[in-house]
Amino acid sequence: MQRGKFITFEGLDGSGKSTQLEIAKEWLKRKGFSVITSREPGGTSVGKEIRKILLNPNHKGLNSKSELLLYLADRIQNLHESILPAKSAGKIVLCDRSHDSTIAYQGFGRGLDLDVLESIIENYIRPYTPDFTILLTISPETVFKRLKKRKENLKTDRLDQESLSFFEKVSKGFQTIASSEKERIICINGEQKIEEIHKEIIEFLMLKLKIP
Ligand code: TMP
Repeated sequence: MQRGKFITFEGLDGSGKSTQLEIAKEWLKRKGFSVITSREPGGTSVGKEIRKILLNPNHKGLNSKSELLLYLADRIQNLHESILPAKSAGKIVLCDRSHDSTIAYQGFGRGLDLDVLESIIENYIRPYTPDFTILLTISPETVFKRLKKRKENLKTDRLDQESLSFFEKVSKGFQTIASSEKERIICINGEQKIEEIHKEIIEFLMLKLKIP
């Protein structure tokens, strides 16, 4: 039986990762893999409640450390309730965000101490970090344009209200993580057409999952 894998899709808000995750899922299923999808925050019923708190635009005063612990609470629940059992059963788990978002958003974006963050992660999460990660890169300016469209459709959440400089810091965070973990993370230009991005994702999956 194919050993299970935990694969994450990461990127700035509006980078197209959720769309790509869905297309990749269908492709993997056609190749005969057993696939489940998840998301963070919000991959479990507890996580859905946490997601509501985190994304509620009224919670502007949420303390950065409270925010961090809520994301981690969601992640620990998702790992133990959903991701690890599926992986042990030989499934491919495609997860919309995880670990790297916390380093990029809470560490680089909010400026929380990366050493403190690392020590929490080391104790509760490290053995279960993703096997592979697909990082879709878009410029912070593109994020802004895409979020503006969302706002026009009244679909705005707490994070959509962040400034350009916040997304610049998060973007730098993702770049820093990607350059230090080249084996695990592939960076794909998320400003390309959907089909072009999908093609690059397929190439990466074929290589990593040894699909002939
Ligand atoms: P989503 O809209 O991609 O589902 O993500 C929800 C928001 O949560 C997004 O703005 C990124 C943010 N986030 C963090 O700040 N830290 C984290 O650890 C995760 C998983 C998401």
